[in-house]
Amino acid sequence: MKLIKKGAEGDIYLSCWGKNEALFKTRLAKTYRNSILDFRIRKRRTIIESEIMSYVKSLGINSPLIYFVDIKNCIIIMQYIPGELVKDLSDTQIINTCKSLGAIAGNLHKNGIMHGDLTTSNFILYDNKIFVIDFGLSSRTNKPIDHAIDLRLFKEILNSAHTSIMKNAWNNFLLGYKLTVGDKYHNIIMNLVLEIESRGRYNNNLNMQK
Ligand SMILES: Nc1ncnc2c1ncn2[C@@H]1O[C@H](COP(=O)(O)OP(=O)(O)O)[C@@H](O)[C@H]1O
Ligand SMILES: [Mg+2]
Repeated sequence: MKLIKKGAEGDIYLSCWGKNEALFKTRLAKTYRNSILDFRIRKRRTIIESEIMSYVKSLGINSPLIYFVDIKNCIIIMQYIPGELVKDLSDTQIINTCKSLGAIAGNLHKNGIMHGDLTTSNFILYDNKIFVIDFGLSSRTNKPIDHAIDLRLFKEILNSAHTSIMKNAWNNFLLGYKLTVGDKYHNIIMNLVLEIESRGRYNNNLNMQK
C-alpha cells in the first residue's frame, strides 16, 4: 500500500483490488469527538459517498467505480483515476474545463444531488473526461438554497485558489450550468448566491463593529 495523500478525514492509499489499481479512502477516528458519535458520522459519510458515487453514474457523470465498501472500518475501495486534479491544470485548461464543471454541477442539481464540497480539488481530468470525486458531504436535496450553497463554495474557491482567472472561469462555469439547468433555474440559483453573499458581508460588517 502506498500512501498518496493525508486527506481531510483520513489517509488515502494506492494499492490493488484484484488485477486493478485501487484507491483506498479511509476515514479515521477523530479523538476529539465522542466515539459513538464519531463512528456514526464516519459510517454515514462512507455510506453516502459510496451510494451517491454509484448513483451519479446513471446520470452520465463520470466517477470512480466502487469496488468494495468496508462499513465497519469506514473504508471505500474504488477505481483509481490516474489523471490530474483540475486544481493543478494550467490556467487556460482550468478556464476551459470550467464549462464542463458547471454542466456537471447542473446535472447533479437537476437530479436532486448537492455535492457538498464543490472545489477544483474534487474533479480529475483523465482521458479527456472529467471525473467527480469526494461525495462524503453530498446529500439528496431539491432545495434551491442547497444548490446555491454548492455554487457559492465553488465561486469562493475560484476567488481564493485561482484568483487571476476567477472571472473567466466563473463565467464559463455558469455557462455550462445554465445550459444544463435552463435559464429560469439558473436565475433562481444566482439570486440565492447573491443573497448568501450579501448575508456574508452583513455578518462581516457586524463583526467589524464588535
Ligand atoms: N478515485 C480516485 N482516483 C485518483 N485520485 C483520487 C481518487 N480519490 C481521491 N483521490 C485523490 O485523493 C485526494 C483526496 O480525496 P478526496 O476524496 O477528495 O478526500 P478529501 O478531500 O475529503 O480528503 C483527491 O484530491 C485526489 O487527489
Ligand atoms: Mg476532496
